[in-house]
Amino acid sequence: MKTTFGPQRMLFPLPTVLVVTGNMTKANIITIAWITMHTGKSPTLGIAVGTRGYSGEQIRANMNFTVNIATVDIMKEADFCGITSGREVDKFKATGFTKLPSTYIESPIIKECPVNLECRLVESNMVGPTNHFVGEILETHIDTDHLGDQHDPGTLDIRAVNPLIYYSGVREYWSLGEKVGDAYEIGKGLTISGHHSR
Ligand SMILES: Cc1cc2nc3c(=O)[nH]c(=O)nc-3n(C[C@H](O)[C@H](O)[C@H](O)COP(=O)(O)O)c2cc1C
Repeated sequence: MKTTFGPQRMLFPLPTVLVVTGNMTKANIITIAWITMHTGKSPTLGIAVGTRGYSGEQIRANMNFTVNIATVDIMKEADFCGITSGREVDKFKATGFTKLPSTYIESPIIKECPVNLECRLVESNMVGPTNHFVGEILETHIDTDHLGDQHDPGTLDIRAVNPLIYYSGVREYWSLGEKVGDAYEIGKGLTISGHHSR
């Protein structure tokens, strides 16, 4: 049996990321969970940014932003960036986060986040009352502490990263569970007559 609840934000789990826009002198941080990859080659990602806050207008003006993966270690600071506005608060000062320069864009990355993506704004639309920003990922920074082989991002130890997971439906933070299988592989064990896995 199932029961229904009408339109809910029941999509989970979501990553918690810190999106930074600005420059090394003045930059703002917004906590974002509504984020997704869009294209694989020349990778792009999309973020949904509300119009009431400060970040939407700032990203439109600056045309670039960084996506910084939040971890359980910085949960309080990440939450703080999601309940305060850059209009009133210098969030770098308040959290103690350290700005590091990006390679290709003005917006800095956050040192305390182990993975950082530099993005150039390539598309912006309104989806209802919400900004939908598409960013092209120009560079990826990863803490070497969490890499088995410094030259291969595939060796990133996701357990050591300990990403902060957001359960949107009930507004809770969670941590990561266990690896349970290899994607694009495990399904090959299932054969349906007439269908072959690629
Ligand atoms: C866990 C969490 C996830 C959030 N996800 C989003 C999101 O995806 N999009 C959004 O516009 N706001 C999101 N928010 C709310 C913004 O972070 C919040 O409105 C913030 O104060 C805006 O800051 P600003 O005015 O400096 O831009 C989230 C907040 C939290 C705590």
